[in-house]
Amino acid sequence: MELITDPADLAKMRAACQDAALILDYLTPFVKPGVTTGELDRLCMEYLTDELKVKSATVGYAPPGYPPFPGAICTSVNHVICHGIPGDKILKNGDSINLDVTIIKDGWFGDTSRMYAVGEQSILSRRLMETTFECMWKGIQQVRPGATLGDIGHAIQRHGEAAGFSIVREYCGHGVGRRFHQDPQILHYGKPGMGIKLVPGMIFTIEPMVNAGRKEIRNLSDGWTVVTRDHSLSAQWEHSVLVTETGYEVLTVSPGVPQPPAFITEPLAVPALA
Ligand code: MF3
Ligand code: CO
Ligand code: CO
Repeated sequence: MELITDPADLAKMRAACQDAALILDYLTPFVKPGVTTGELDRLCMEYLTDELKVKSATVGYAPPGYPPFPGAICTSVNHVICHGIPGDKILKNGDSINLDVTIIKDGWFGDTSRMYAVGEQSILSRRLMETTFECMWKGIQQVRPGATLGDIGHAIQRHGEAAGFSIVREYCGHGVGRRFHQDPQILHYGKPGMGIKLVPGMIFTIEPMVNAGRKEIRNLSDGWTVVTRDHSLSAQWEHSVLVTETGYEVLTVSPGVPQPPAFITEPLAVPALA
């Protein structure tokens, strides 16, 4: 497991994470009825290449058993849980979409995702997006030295299930830093006190996927797209988080980052832009 202790390394990781968050800010006004997921991907690629001058971590990404991912963002609409491939799909009023971006800056990976409402939402869709956001923050709230991975997973699972939703098991958060996906795995369910203890310098993502219906998934034949087996709505939010001496620091922060729910008393400090 990679521990970050060198302040210069941490500055680079902060910068990479901030750029990933800036991409999500940039895309926000374009997420409207009529836009295609492919157009959002094109805008993302253009912005990260021309404005931020960073690299996409997902274009051509091909873990063992997967075909190369073609896009600079994952576009997961409605019942798509994660890894939606951008393409010809036209967003319509009432859709919900997760945009997940990972970039490489100076050798460091920044990984974050948010939900976007396309036009008006059903009450269920709004409640699912909100609850999933709270689930991510219930997990983040557990992060401090001495807490365990089970504490994080349990807090997320408890909050999602209390709302009547279910937690996806097959995909999880992950260590991140000089590599995209690394140890430890951050499960979004679990038991308090179980699993490894957190120590300062650990960096990982918390990225719960929450389904309105049952937790079971189906993998589509494109090799990437993951959907709910019962076709119920799904939502996901993702931050990259550092374990500090006293608690946590959320790294994927930008001027447009959604502020935490009311049960988190500390607002996110928006970094001065480089
Ligand atoms: N960004 C995703 C994550 O949070 C991984 C996407 S891999 C891709 O871990 F190839 F589908 F883009
Ligand atoms: Co991730
Ligand atoms: Co991601």
